Amino acid sequence: MAHDWYASPLYYDIIFDQDTALEADFVEAAFRRYARPAGKRRLRVLEPAAGSGRLMVELARRGHAVSGFDLEPAMVEFTRGRLASAGLSGEMARGRMERFDLGAGRFDLAHCFVSTFKYLLTERAARAHLRCVARGLRRGGIYLLGFHLSDYGAGRGEAERWVGRRGGVRVDCRIDSDPPDPEARTERVRSSLRVHEAGRRHRVETAWDFRTYDAAQVRSMLAAVPEFELVACHDFRYALEDERTLDDDWEDVILVLRKR
Ligand SMILES: C[S@@+](CC[C@H](N)C(=O)[O-])C[C@H]1O[C@@H](n2cnc3c(N)ncnc32)[C@H](O)[C@@H]1O
Repeated sequence: MAHDWYASPLYYDIIFDQDTALEADFVEAAFRRYARPAGKRRLRVLEPAAGSGRLMVELARRGHAVSGFDLEPAMVEFTRGRLASAGLSGEMARGRMERFDLGAGRFDLAHCFVSTFKYLLTERAARAHLRCVARGLRRGGIYLLGFHLSDYGAGRGEAERWVGRRGGVRVDCRIDSDPPDPEARTERVRSSLRVHEAGRRHRVETAWDFRTYDAAQVRSMLAAVPEFELVACHDFRYALEDERTLDDDWEDVILVLRKR
């Protein structure tokens, strides 16, 4: 048994790759709709906490200039390796979401999906992250930020399971989260990957805390970062035609933040 799924980038990639093309379509379409100006075709794209690089590779294949970073060295190496083996250019470095500087005004668009933002466990870290992203974007550039919202009244946790396959590798993924703690603003999350590979089976177990947000907490955080205006909200269906309001009726949100 291994601990920490981020030390096993291939397994992470297999289970999270299913929506990659859909997310990349959304990134391109959201830029055309919400960035000002939005005519540019070859975008300079930043992905904080880019993980296994699935979206960096997809967007580089589509002709965009991609930059990313991640805290986990195995993820950085994996992403660099797959960009190189696909003959694609892109910069991937080691770095922290709450403290980075890749140059002011350099990017047209940044994105951070699948609740990664919730790894920032304090309000201070969350705001610092948003300010770093704002600094990196040019005026009128957008930040697409997608994460699950918490229902503090639900009194129960959540469980999700699905299966990913690539080549001869099969990964059964189960993610459990405890009920959110409204005082601590955290929820405990556990992932369990059961890997079947070359006649062998093993498990990768990880546990971590996420910061929690309801709609009002999202609004209050955004009010503290005036560098951004909230221009639209969508959800994890990644459908540009479905614009939503920011409220507690939904379980997840993609914020479209535009740099003033
Ligand atoms: C759920 S994965 C998301 C990866 C990628 N953005 C994607 O959509 O597939 C979360 C990533 O965040 C990274 N991470 C967690 N905390 C971080 C931090 N404070 N700074 C930078 N990366 C962090 C982890 O190493 C992991 O690769």
